Amino acid sequence: MVETVNNATSQVMAKWEAFVKESGDMERELDVQVEFMCLNVDVVARTTLGLENNDFQNILKHINCTDLRKILWCRPIPFGINVERWKVRKQLNDLVRKQVRERRKKTTEGNNVDFIGKLLDNPDVREDVIVAELKTLYATGFISLAPLLSFTMLMLALHPSWQEKARQEVDHVLDGGFVSPKDVSKLTTIEMILRETLRLYPTMPLITRLCIKDTMVGDVSIPKGLGVSVNVVALHHDPDLWGDDVNEFNPSRFKNGTATAAKHPMAFMPFAYGVRTCIGRAFSEVQCKVIIANIFQRFEVKLSPNYRHHPVITGPLIPKHGMPVILKPRRNF
Ligand code: HEM
Repeated sequence: MVETVNNATSQVMAKWEAFVKESGDMERELDVQVEFMCLNVDVVARTTLGLENNDFQNILKHINCTDLRKILWCRPIPFGINVERWKVRKQLNDLVRKQVRERRKKTTEGNNVDFIGKLLDNPDVREDVIVAELKTLYATGFISLAPLLSFTMLMLALHPSWQEKARQEVDHVLDGGFVSPKDVSKLTTIEMILRETLRLYPTMPLITRLCIKDTMVGDVSIPKGLGVSVNVVALHHDPDLWGDDVNEFNPSRFKNGTATAAKHPMAFMPFAYGVRTCIGRAFSEVQCKVIIANIFQRFEVKLSPNYRHHPVITGPLIPKHGMPVILKPRRNF
């Protein structure tokens, strides 16, 4: 998996370097939010289907994160903007279906060791079900991972000393090479940076549950049948749990892991807890580390004057106006 993420990210890094070079300047502005959406979709296509998927990226470039959710999961009444969304939705469905058929042709029965392969092997699983599963995996890439990576760029652009620490770690651990599976656990500064970013900007900010029996939480009575939401943003910004520097970007608070970062071991819950906890947690932690390491191995990052700070909850927490940053390649062309 690490190799796959490296390959996909390297292509994007080469594209970013060419993009800067093309301008004739030493640095150039780029909205990385869209780039991360496309990169994450590419990683899912490679890891689940063994396919590279530039077609998907062409569709994604024209729509934003908020729209994409509406396109994937709503069944809009066909008028006005819904007609456009319906068309994009059909394009996406057709593309995922085409990918599933392509993958079916590439593999022989019994030879499918990955998740989608197992589904393809099972004659009882309809194609529609496989397409739906894949769409869920694709969606997590642009709904939760792309905003996390974007907010991480924001934090490191605003805190150059942490950017420098990340860069020193990358240079030390990778020594100019690719990230290998054994390197991932050594990228501890990047891990702390990602966790602190997820604390300040939890990309899944509301966790909803249905109360199944009458319950008391402290002195609050929650009757059976009531829907309850855990407000993760509020939890992650509670000074009683995190201390007076709760609003500061301080990755060091995670130096001994997540359980001791706050006064309560469950104060940090970007991936939820319990039986419905995020199944993609380990995957996304590795993926983000590899991507951030690749970026800071090659670039210095500054915030663009065109950035408008407007985090908004649209289901996920996203930077509403994208994440324009200024990229400066570290090596000479
Ligand atoms: C920064 C990245 C991510 C964050 C913050 C995140 C967060 C979450 C949260 C909070 C939940 C629980 C939702 C609830 O119970 O209401 C969840 C569930 C889930 N996540 Fe993630 N997620 C991330 C990445 C991923 C990735 C990369 C995948 C897939 C590869 C994934 C797959 C899932 C699935 C399938 C569920 C539903 C599990 C169930 O209901 O049993 N997530 N995620």
